[in-house]
Amino acid sequence: MSYKLVTLGGDGTGPEVMREGLRVLHAISAKLELAWDVDDIPCGGQYYLQHGDRDWPEGAEARCDAADLILLGAVGWPSPTGSGPVLMKDGKMAGFSPVLGNRTRLNLYANVRPVKLYEGVQHRIHGANKQVWQPGLVDMVMIRENTEGLYTPAGGKLSPGGRTEVAIDTRVITRRASEQVIRHAFELCRRRNKGAPKDGKLRVTAVVKDNVLHGCQLFAKIFFEIGAEYPEIEKDTAIVDAFTQWLINQPEYYDVVVTTNMFGDIVTDLASVLQGGMGMAVGANVGAKHGMFEPIHGSAPKHAGKDKVNPIAMVLAVKEGLEWLGQQRGDARLGRGAQAIEAAVVELLKAGAPLTYDLVGEAKAAKCSEVGQWLAAASVRLLG
Ligand code: IPM
Ligand code: MG
Repeated sequence: MSYKLVTLGGDGTGPEVMREGLRVLHAISAKLELAWDVDDIPCGGQYYLQHGDRDWPEGAEARCDAADLILLGAVGWPSPTGSGPVLMKDGKMAGFSPVLGNRTRLNLYANVRPVKLYEGVQHRIHGANKQVWQPGLVDMVMIRENTEGLYTPAGGKLSPGGRTEVAIDTRVITRRASEQVIRHAFELCRRRNKGAPKDGKLRVTAVVKDNVLHGCQLFAKIFFEIGAEYPEIEKDTAIVDAFTQWLINQPEYYDVVVTTNMFGDIVTDLASVLQGGMGMAVGANVGAKHGMFEPIHGSAPKHAGKDKVNPIAMVLAVKEGLEWLGQQRGDARLGRGAQAIEAAVVELLKAGAPLTYDLVGEAKAAKCSEVGQWLAAASVRLLG
């Protein structure tokens, strides 16, 4: 029996990191006797420029719906004619379908982003004392609602006489989606059973703006309703603007963080500086039945085609995907594979080479593919 894997390499450096993620996956799969039926779907801004009317092929939705596991590289490509990304005729970013389309169509309601500073990695906050955060002090999971909020496609532009005068985005917060993602956060906190690095307490923090916004008041209310079912977990709320300071000042206070879509988009990029940058940051888009795993860095057009960028986030996305699928299907081989991949990453970061420019500077930089080859070999070795 084989698992159906859909790969969505996407734009720019997306397919380059995907290649390394798959290299690692196939290497351990041979040893674990795991078989994959891989369906690669081209997509993104570059696809749209070539095809003129779609950001992925007709029928791609059904192929994703049928997958056991989806891996995504990155989408988004600069417009050759204007500023910003290539947009489709309906005004959506070309690359919308594989990312935001899949998140909503497959009800991948939780976007789970681990923020962990591994030993040997320097955080990217500049200043005199670059080593101020020790690895053990940054180890939290951020969970972002992934289907609604300010991303709800309810809005538009008013353009009397052809000139746009007003643009409206409507932020929708529903009880249903809030309950799903908040419950996911409490369940994860319980399962992870790690607590915050500062005091070892199991803690879920809801990041809101409930002093101003109706939607955040509802989100906070539901947070405490559901939280009551988890008496062993401390309930904490933070107003998003203040939270951005505390995240950087005292990351050790956070264990699991849950928030709405747009706030989550912003604070997880911010949090990536605590873990060594976007080359280290992973996003798991999960729902009850489906899962799509991605590095959260973008397509980095200026680095595309140079075999240069850091594949570790993509490799860790493969790890997260295996862990999730293993739990879904009760297949212990997948969990073993995930553990071996993370152990390989930990070993590489401690060893300090081969690593890419973002971690060790241009002078000592290895290629993306060298890192992938090293990780593939180490993962197989660590499977024992
Ligand atoms: C992310 C990305 C996406 C988002 C973009 C590519 C639409 O920034 O996954 O965080 O805004 O969610
Ligand atoms: Mg983002």
